[in-house]
Order: sequence, then structure tokens, then C-alpha cells
Amino acid sequence: MTRPLPRFGTLRAALRCGAIAALALLGLSALPAARATDASAAIPTDPAVIDAQVSSLLAQMTLEEKIGQLVQVSSLSNATGPIERTNLEEQVASGQCGSMLNIIGAADTRKWQEIALSHSRLKIPLLFGYDVIHGYRTIFPMNLGQAASWDIPAIEQSERIAATEASAAGIQWAFAPMVDIARDPRWGRIAEGSGEDTFLGCAIAAARVRGFQGGGLDRTDTVMACVKHFAAYGAVQAGRDYNTTDVPEITLRQVYLPPFKAAIDAGAQTVMVAFNDLNGVPCSANSFLLDQVLRREWGFKGFVVSDWKSISQLIPHTIAADGRQACLLAYNAGVDMDMEGRIYQTYLAGLIRSGKVSSAHLDRAVSAILRAKVERGLFVDPYRFSDPAREKAAMLRPSSLEAARVLAEESCVLLKNDAGALPLARTAHVALVGPLADSARDLLGSWAGQGRASDAVTLRTALTKTLGADHVAYAEGCSFKPGDRSGFDAAVAAARKSDVVVAVLGEPWYFSGEGNCRTHLDLPGEQPALLRALRATGKPVVVVLMNGRPLVLGDTLANCDALLEAWYPGTQGGPALAKLLTGAVSPSGKLPVTFPRDVGQIPIFYNHMTTGRPQPDDQPRIQYKSNYLDVPNTPQFPFGYGLSYTSFAFSNARLSSPTLPMNGALTVTATLANTGSRDGAEVAQLYIRQLWGSVTRPVRELKGFRRVMLRKGESTALSFTLRPSDLAFVHSDMTNAPEPGRFEVFLGGDSKAPKIGEFTLLPR
Ligand code: BGC
Repeated sequence: MTRPLPRFGTLRAALRCGAIAALALLGLSALPAARATDASAAIPTDPAVIDAQVSSLLAQMTLEEKIGQLVQVSSLSNATGPIERTNLEEQVASGQCGSMLNIIGAADTRKWQEIALSHSRLKIPLLFGYDVIHGYRTIFPMNLGQAASWDIPAIEQSERIAATEASAAGIQWAFAPMVDIARDPRWGRIAEGSGEDTFLGCAIAAARVRGFQGGGLDRTDTVMACVKHFAAYGAVQAGRDYNTTDVPEITLRQVYLPPFKAAIDAGAQTVMVAFNDLNGVPCSANSFLLDQVLRREWGFKGFVVSDWKSISQLIPHTIAADGRQACLLAYNAGVDMDMEGRIYQTYLAGLIRSGKVSSAHLDRAVSAILRAKVERGLFVDPYRFSDPAREKAAMLRPSSLEAARVLAEESCVLLKNDAGALPLARTAHVALVGPLADSARDLLGSWAGQGRASDAVTLRTALTKTLGADHVAYAEGCSFKPGDRSGFDAAVAAARKSDVVVAVLGEPWYFSGEGNCRTHLDLPGEQPALLRALRATGKPVVVVLMNGRPLVLGDTLANCDALLEAWYPGTQGGPALAKLLTGAVSPSGKLPVTFPRDVGQIPIFYNHMTTGRPQPDDQPRIQYKSNYLDVPNTPQFPFGYGLSYTSFAFSNARLSSPTLPMNGALTVTATLANTGSRDGAEVAQLYIRQLWGSVTRPVRELKGFRRVMLRKGESTALSFTLRPSDLAFVHSDMTNAPEPGRFEVFLGGDSKAPKIGEFTLLPR
């Protein structure tokens, strides 16, 4: 049904294709001749001009056309959820669809845009959205791994690269950043976020938005950010995806909401609701979240998209009897766009015509969506993101691969290194074993966009290149299948003839991500037995772990000399690991999430409250204190933890004053020295503890961090500023303010950092 069209790289070409009608509607028909070849110059950035264009278009739209803008449908072939097979072409051609997701590539986005523009009455361009979670084609480490780098500029840069690739493939809108704070490693989507801490999560959320949106939404190398999943999705009960969340408002505001606010403050103009019900009201019908918090308190002016069919899921959530009621609830709560749900398209016109819902909401929602399209320049050139030549040139650039490798290096966390087992000697003969040592697909992790296994370099390939083929004896050992010990003999034989074993173990990529939750956090299949067999050879054993969540590592730690947590390190995972293992680079990652000793400790996180009967960490179990009979309260590895091949020392730590006035600032200074024999990076972490408050206070809270690269023997001055606003917390009446009182300050390389001083926040 599409008519053949020439290539449209220029404004003139776009005008031939029917966009001219849309331009005319917007009063843009007479563009200055000088700008004819520079489409971006014609894209309005003045809010008043944008609003005028949007109002002019809105005035010409029928009710059905307006509702069409609220409808988003997925491509049938790349669906990311359960899908209905409908006639998409007919729907798009009739103007009954404002946005599509999962349409991939310059050619396909162009094809669908042509359908929208050639046939629909008002020729409003489509907006193409896609999950750009940790890269588009160049895949960066899984998000939880990126968070372990604590390298905010590098994370921002990864999104800049992802945006450059995705936007060249026709994608104008990324369903990211995912900013859900997660304290439960059973939840498969913990891999997609930045871990357990709100302060770190806010810094990363803002960096991702800056990276996606780069120098402005009028540019062709940016994608519009969509912060998700609003809200508290990471708190699903029992770590089971889509499950209920019960989060007191004080915790919601203190822990779960701030990263959303940070993303919006950084410029995110779209928000995706979460699947879960929050305190009895599913997020897709939650006017407290969408109206009160988002729009009234935060002044959000963008638009809200549902999650995949989450409006129709109000029926199984038991708050809507049928689709019509689901429509009414979601619309009234403030969900603007219906992702793949077909609810708005089926019921909204009837509800508005019968006066059951107000049409004022509709104009607000449609305007916000049209505004995004105007800002993206789609009315000037609807094909500006669909240029196959640019698409080809944008992917996997050497500088992008380099950035992916560096971020992979920085994201790996050294959790154990006894007797200098790492780094490997350059002359070592290595037995490289395990189901993940040569698996390119697993390197990419879940939600890997258009990443291809064929682009990814495994550790086997990279280590062989580094050490030489005669120094690497590879044996898979086992797959992930229970009972598969078929490769044990070959693996043990390889270990016997080598100096050291490197076992690359963990979870296959599909063990994390949406819907992939676990109750056991162990190494699946026969991997524990393989590790024991390798250990029994008496050779030093180094474990490299790939996984999307904290695992319970007691047995693994007991059977290895060194352990490097690599998460899913991405396209350049192998070369990054080879550099780390051979000491070309020192590990510098720090855990963004606590590793439990046992599943029974979950949820376990560093910034917990003390309780009225605190069990001291350094003492044996005391009866009638808050503890377990069988496992200590302490984690296997605390938040912020990570070793290096070199060593660091903090000294001369001081506070500028013992008091902090309400209108003042306090400086914490110290010296950080690399006291070891190799270059390396340390992440200096500043924590505070308020000793008393009107509501219970956490044992520690992260308030600052610096990632510092130091050559061996080098030292640097650290300085952190603390203002009363940094000490603010949510009170019982939901106000957020600092409270006078006494504070302890801790500075060091992890969340167990020693106390370096105290101060008093003075009353006003
Ligand atoms: C996920 C979202 C994602 C959407 C579109 C949903 O199932 O929860 O995170 O953006 O699908 O793929």
C-alpha cells in the first residue's frame, strides 16, 4: 500500500513526501530559501513558537485523530511482550497511531513513516521508540555493571554513543533510563538499573539523560529519554517480576522517587509507568504518582507512556471490570500514551463523547506528544533520522568500541585476590574453562538492543591474542544444563597441564532481565561441581563471574583464589577482561549493590535502619538482638566494595568546622595516596550518619564520591562540600528538609569506611 518514494535526506525531499501538508498546517510552508538544505535550522526551539504550532495543529484535529496520537503499536516481528496480530498498515495509514516501537533501522522506520505521511489526513509523523538500555549496536556493560564503575562521565558518554547509533537507525525516543532502585537480587531486572543506592542512582539517571539528549532534541544524533518505571517497580514483593509493591510513602519519597526527579531535572520529557500496583493502586491508574507527584509537585510538562499493555492489565489487577473501565482509570490518572494496549483506541472516543471523561486531559496529552514531534524536527523533515548511509557509518565506530572496552574494564569488581593470584604472569599457561569463557552472546547480557554476538569478542579470543595460542588451553567444562558433566575430564586435563585455571562461570544472559527472577542465587547447573573438580587439581583457580545480579558466593569463594565480578561486560568484554587478568589495567569497580551471604538475608542493603535492638556487626550473635540464628547480619560483600592490584590510603581527613549553620557549608578534605606498586583508580566514598532525627535514620548514607586515577606513589587532595540541603530527609508529614542535630562522617573505599569526624547541624 505504500507508494514508491525517492530517498529523503533533505528538507526538499521531505516536502515532496507529504510533509508539506503538515508544514502548511503549522504555518511553516514558506521556509527561508537559505535554510532549504539545512533542515535543523528550521526546527523551532523557542517554547512560544512550539506551543503556537502545536495549538494550530490541535485546532484542526478530529477527536479520533487526537486519540490516534495516544496510541502506540509495536512491530509484529520484534515484539517485546505478548502481541496481537492486527493490520498495522491500515491503522497507521488511517492516522490511528501516533507512535511505534520496535521498528528497527533506517529503512524500516522510513517505510512506516511513509505510510503515515502518504495516507493519513493530517500527515502527522510517527515517533519511533525503542529500548536502548545499554547500547544500541555497540553494547556497553549491563547497566548494573556500568554503575559499578562509578564513572559518571563514562556512563554519560556510553549513552551519547548509544544515541548516535540509535538515532541513525531511525530511533527518536529511547525507553531509558531505567532508574528503579532495587534491593532484591532475585528480581531479574536488577540488572537493568543502577543498584540499591539513591544517591548513586540519581547521579547515573541524570548522566544517562544528558548522554541521550546530548546537545538538544533538535539534533539528529540524539534520542529523547524516557525515565522508567514509575514507580517502585524494584520493590516487587519476593523479587518476583510484576508482583505487588507495598512501599510506605516516606520510603517512596526518600528512596525510590529521587532518581526519577533527577532524570526529569536533567531534561527527560517522557515517563513510563511501572507494571506493579503500588499500595493498592496499579501505577497505570495511580493519580497520586502521575498527577500529584509528577505533574503538580514536580511540574512535569512532558507525556507519560504506559508500559506494554499495562492499561489493559488493570483488569487482572482487579481494579477494572473491563477495558472501558481500564481506559477511564488510566486516562483520568494521567497516562497519555497507550503502549500496545489497544485500550485508548477502542474506548476513549466513546468515553469522551458520552461525557464520562473530560476532553481537557486529551488536549494536554496530545499537545505534549505533538510538542515532542515538533522539537525532534519531524515536521520539518520526518525522515531526518532514517538515513541508511548515516546508519551504516554510525555503528561500531572504533572510538565507540574503545569507550565500551574502557567502561567494561571499569565496571569489573575484584572481590577476592589471595596471595596475588591475579594478575596472571604474562608467561603463564592458562586453562581457560567454563560455559562463559567463549560465549559471545552471553557477553551482551539482556536487553542488548541490536547488539550482535558476531560483534562481541570473548575472553577466549582476547586472552589467546594476549598470551599466545600455546598459552591458553580452552575447555568448556560444562553447559548450564543440570547433570551435564560431559566436559569435566577435558577441563581437568587442561588444568593439570597449566599453571593456573581461569574459570568463567555465572548465569546465562537470559537469567536476568524482564520476567527472569530466581529464588536460588547460586551458579546454575554443574558449575559448582566443575569448580570443585578444578580446585582439586591443586592449581591456583581464578573465577571470572558473569551475572546480572548479586549471587550467593560462599562456596565459590571457598573454591577459588581470586574472583573478578564481570557482570555482562558487553561487545568488548573479552579484551577488557584480558587486560584486567593480565594486569595491563587494575580493577577499579566498586559494588553498586550488596552481595548477601544467603538468600534468607534479602532484602539486604547498606543504608538500613538500626532497629531498637541492634546487633553489633563485630560481635557474635546476642539473644534478643536483631539477628538470625544461622547466618550473621553482615553481607558477603558490602555496597561500595572492590579491590585493586594496588593499594590506597586515606590520610589527613578533616572537617572544616565542627558545626554547620543552616545557611552554610562544610568541607571535608583528605589526602588519597596510591601506596602500592601499580597504577590504579580508587573510588573515594563519603558517608554520613545522623545520630538522631524525628524519624529513624539509616546507619549510613552515601553523600559524595570521587573516582580518582592515581599512578603508583602518587597522591591527591580530596575535597567534598556538605550543605544542609544534602542532609535533608523526608519527614512523617512528607516534607523534605534537613533537621538540626549531630552527624558522623565516614570516608574510605567502601560503605564500611572508617569514621573521620563529627559535626553538628545548627538550628536556624
Ligand atoms: C518493559 C519496558 C519496555 C517495554 C517496551 C516492557 O515489557 O517493561 O521496560 O520499555 O516493554 O519494550
